[in-house]
Amino acid sequence: MSVPASDRSVPLSADLQAEIEGWYRGTIFAYDWTSPHFPSWTAVLGERRRPLRILEIGSYEGRSAIFFLNYFPASTLTCVDWWNMDTNELELLPLIPDALEHFAHAEARFDLNLAPYGHRATKLKGNSADVVAQLGVDGARFEHPLEEARGRAGVATDAEIPASVSRSV
Ligand SMILES: C[S@@+](CC[C@H](N)C(=O)[O-])C[C@H]1O[C@@H](n2cnc3c(N)ncnc32)[C@H](O)[C@@H]1O
Repeated sequence: MSVPASDRSVPLSADLQAEIEGWYRGTIFAYDWTSPHFPSWTAVLGERRRPLRILEIGSYEGRSAIFFLNYFPASTLTCVDWWNMDTNELELLPLIPDALEHFAHAEARFDLNLAPYGHRATKLKGNSADVVAQLGVDGARFEHPLEEARGRAGVATDAEIPASVSRSV
């Protein structure tokens, strides 16, 4: 996978670019929402050895999940997505060629792509508002909540993620 030229205000070093490309060997993706953000993410994420518990809302085929599991090798990641082409995603259809076909296979691709990470990745399928509420009830805690489905109907936004599941480090 090559990192697109856009969003390179903080360029990746050659070593990190090569490392990132290695993370994606053998993976299967239909659509790339994510890699243009890698340069700005790496510029702000800080120390990589921290044993973070990360909550990702909107995992799709797992591209950002693979990024975070590798960028923070001592981390665990909880991935939330409903993996469904619900009616409120219809606005995406004109923007993404073959979107219906992509969404139909996104969950299976996520499962294949994340299989090598074993217990480090936890998959929770459902509407994020419901899943995050249940995480709060269960007493789950995360240092890094990531909101990858921002702006979509029914999504638990950063503001709605209860303090009980999130704390800053
Ligand atoms: C921009 S994509 C995420 C891209 C992904 N992080 C990646 O790196 O490829 C947004 C995702 O959010 C999911 N999503 C949208 N609304 C949701 C909701 N209410 N609950 C759970 N998932 C939702 C969609 O199914 C979609 O997979």
